[in-house]
Amino acid sequence: MNELKLEIIDQAGWLAQEEIRVMKDKYALLLDAVKKGEEQYKDSLGWLDVDRWAGEDWILKYEELAKAVQKDGDVLVVIGIGGSNQSARAVVDAIGSKNHVKIVYAGNSISADSICNVLEEIKGKSVYINVIAKNFETLEPGIGFRALRAFLKDQYGAEYSKRVICTGTCGTKFEEIAREKGYYFLPFPEDVGGRYTSLTPIGLFPLAAAGLDIRAMVEGARHISRRLQKEDAAENIALEYAVVRNMLYEKGLKLEMLSCFEPRMFRFAKWWMQLFGESEGKDNKALYPVFGTFSEDLHSIGQYIQDGDTIMFETFLKVEDTGASYVIYGDDVEDGFSVLDGMDFDEINRVAFEATVAAHSEKFPCLILSIPAIDEETFGQLYYFYQFMCYLSAKILGVDPFNQPGVEAYKNYMFKSLGKCVED
Ligand code: PA5
Repeated sequence: MNELKLEIIDQAGWLAQEEIRVMKDKYALLLDAVKKGEEQYKDSLGWLDVDRWAGEDWILKYEELAKAVQKDGDVLVVIGIGGSNQSARAVVDAIGSKNHVKIVYAGNSISADSICNVLEEIKGKSVYINVIAKNFETLEPGIGFRALRAFLKDQYGAEYSKRVICTGTCGTKFEEIAREKGYYFLPFPEDVGGRYTSLTPIGLFPLAAAGLDIRAMVEGARHISRRLQKEDAAENIALEYAVVRNMLYEKGLKLEMLSCFEPRMFRFAKWWMQLFGESEGKDNKALYPVFGTFSEDLHSIGQYIQDGDTIMFETFLKVEDTGASYVIYGDDVEDGFSVLDGMDFDEINRVAFEATVAAHSEKFPCLILSIPAIDEETFGQLYYFYQFMCYLSAKILGVDPFNQPGVEAYKNYMFKSLGKCVED
């Protein structure tokens, strides 16, 4: 399998090789602990062993359920927010659906316009829904489910329940409702928090419904998991990345930008932003994760990156083989671009990438994470790699990688205004 690779371009001299080596040594024992999974986080580490939620028995279950949806469904509406929808959405956005089932998203905003658009989009289609909620208290999926339930009841009468697949925590009110109403019920792993669920029913079932190769995705994850277990501190790619980003934070660069020259990785960057924002942003510290969709954003935020305050470093997601090509044909219009006649967009994109790294690394370090392609196997590698690296990085920073106390603050205000007790 083609490997992920990490490279550091640091023309401005922020980091000394020796300094990185010393830090990797310092965290060698932490790496060993993270490989095994620490006892104190045992209730959040169900993702560490890929097979726990993506072993053969589970894959067969996701595939079987996906077949039922594919049989007569045109659309699967995924109702969920944050960790409950971002990983599947990133893959569908980047690769696309591979069969006739279109994935549509709801329950991820409170916007009346958004829900009306979804209902308009699915009108006249054969619709299934997958409601994903770890604790079933989150407002967005709660009211999104209401809206889609009303739609299904209206379309299919009492038979509507056969079109509802709930992914929720066993033993909760959500399971009770699902059993009582005759919805299909998939377990939300109790030992995995939302943002770490890419390789569980949350991430995998919607992808199986859209005909994506979840076996290849899981194989990618298994591959990098074996690699990360095998590599010691000196060579471990996750430790190197985790150490470097924490060193740069300590040196005053407070923001990491994940930049990619393939716009279809936009949703992946959103997933990444959540993973790091929620896992590390606590105790008044952590790198602020942002993303850049290039080359477009070079024409807007690019000015700040190059000439604004020195507050950030950048990690480029470099796609080795984009699998796409479009050659520019010569024509007779004197438009000033004839030097590019016969060149491929892909080739020009690479030149723009190299030029951007050269320019930005004059100011701050640029990390390059090379990925082989944009396919299921690579997504499996990427998801597992970043989840593992995030755990490691949060520990180096000194915060709990798996809680998110900060997200409750606005909810308390909101529910008070709505007259709903938080524990209702
Ligand atoms: O990572 C997390 O735990 C969160 O982002 C959750 O995924 C998100 O808040 C949605 O929660 P729930 O699935 O309970 O609706």
